[in-house]
Amino acid sequence: MKILIIGGTGAMGSPLAKYLSEDKNNSVYIVSRHDHFSWESNVFYVTGDINSEAFFHELIRKKFDVIIDFMIWAPALLKKRLKHIFDNCGQYIAMGTSSEYAGVDGLITEETPRLYDTYSPEERRQGGRYHIKKSKDDDLITASEHGSWTIIRPWVTYNARKNPLVTVPLSVWMWRYLHDRTIFLPRQVMDKKCSLTYGEDAARAIKAMVGNPKAYGQIVNIASNKWMTWAEAVETYQDVLFELRGKVMKLYLLPDASVIWRDIPSQYDPIAHDRCVDRCFSTEKLNELCGEEFVFGDLRECLKMSLEKTLNDPTVKLGAPSAAYQGLMDRLAGEHTPLSMIPKASRKSYKIALSPTKSWVKRVYRSIKGEDLHIPEAQSAANPSLDNKGEQGDNT
Ligand SMILES: NC(=O)c1ccc[n+]([C@@H]2O[C@H](COP(=O)([O-])OP(=O)(O)OC[C@H]3O[C@@H](n4cnc5c(N)ncnc54)[C@H](OP(=O)(O)O)[C@@H]3O)[C@@H](O)[C@H]2O)c1
Repeated sequence: MKILIIGGTGAMGSPLAKYLSEDKNNSVYIVSRHDHFSWESNVFYVTGDINSEAFFHELIRKKFDVIIDFMIWAPALLKKRLKHIFDNCGQYIAMGTSSEYAGVDGLITEETPRLYDTYSPEERRQGGRYHIKKSKDDDLITASEHGSWTIIRPWVTYNARKNPLVTVPLSVWMWRYLHDRTIFLPRQVMDKKCSLTYGEDAARAIKAMVGNPKAYGQIVNIASNKWMTWAEAVETYQDVLFELRGKVMKLYLLPDASVIWRDIPSQYDPIAHDRCVDRCFSTEKLNELCGEEFVFGDLRECLKMSLEKTLNDPTVKLGAPSAAYQGLMDRLAGEHTPLSMIPKASRKSYKIALSPTKSWVKRVYRSIKGEDLHIPEAQSAANPSLDNKGEQGDNT
């Protein structure tokens, strides 16, 4: 099969490319914005930005048996592109997300209502929000007259390069762990259930959908059925890291999660709509499409493999941790990061996060429209004892 993976260097795409290339009858083409060297005779990297019209059309003209797409498309752009995608491939496998689902008691299935389905027209127009964008993309695909699509809905899926702790990005929490800083997590999520999935497991499951006629016209959730509470999951992270580094992960559980999304608005949806509800998934449909029971790995074992690679593989580059996140956590903990450790371009955002003004707080709130946010008092009133502590020391 001639297979195109758009985003084939990511958490799921990279192990998927490895599994698919094991069959030497497959030719695997991987799109990435960066140059990569291929060690396999049947793996070909194509460098370019898929958002570019010229690059997209030149690529898609090459025709593929299967296209596996890991992009988060702007719905307007996907709408323009879908016809070209379907005209040039036999099967189109796209990624939705299980964060689209509304909270339910019990197991989440592919029939569970999505948050989007419960929204008013006004809310639906807030297209910048991740789960709304993904639901709109899904609707465009399912409305297509071509039946040869498959929508995968993964949930939190980690690998060496991508591994959020609740919602804190790996680049932030790992930096803070390695530099003995405190990591702040929302207390509200700790008794909720989560189904963390290893990228290698998700890739095996996606591979089972490739060229599988049973998967045509189907939506399928791919998330581990080995769920646990966030408290248990976080404790597993602590244990595994202690085993690997002999060092304790310093955690502080914030009683009010709005302290996080007040500074980082993009955290509102993931915490309030996703991590704050139980996420336990039925794997019935996945098993049915695979033709057998799909077995997910154990969190402790998979996490150990993943974090070992994060810590020891020199090719794993995490990038600079978000300045806003660092500033927020430094402020709350009264910890101190010298400006010399923050990239020049991010220093302004770091300083703002250290001492948010009232107007900054208001602007952040205005950017999340239509939600009952329980708008608290200004930061200084909410956290008088902690306010601005991060400004102490050499931050100039
Ligand atoms: N991982 C999860 O927890 C999770 C959960 C639910 C849903 N999903 C869905 O799964 C998809 C992401 O999968 P992932 O988490 O495995 O990926 P990922 O680790 O975020 O990697 C994204 C990949 O896309 C490539 N990419 C990004 N923008 C590009 C562009 N403009 N042109 C070309 N390549 C581009 C990146 O390559 P370069 O940087 O090398 O260009 C990278 O290979 C998304 O659709 C997401 O909504 C993921």
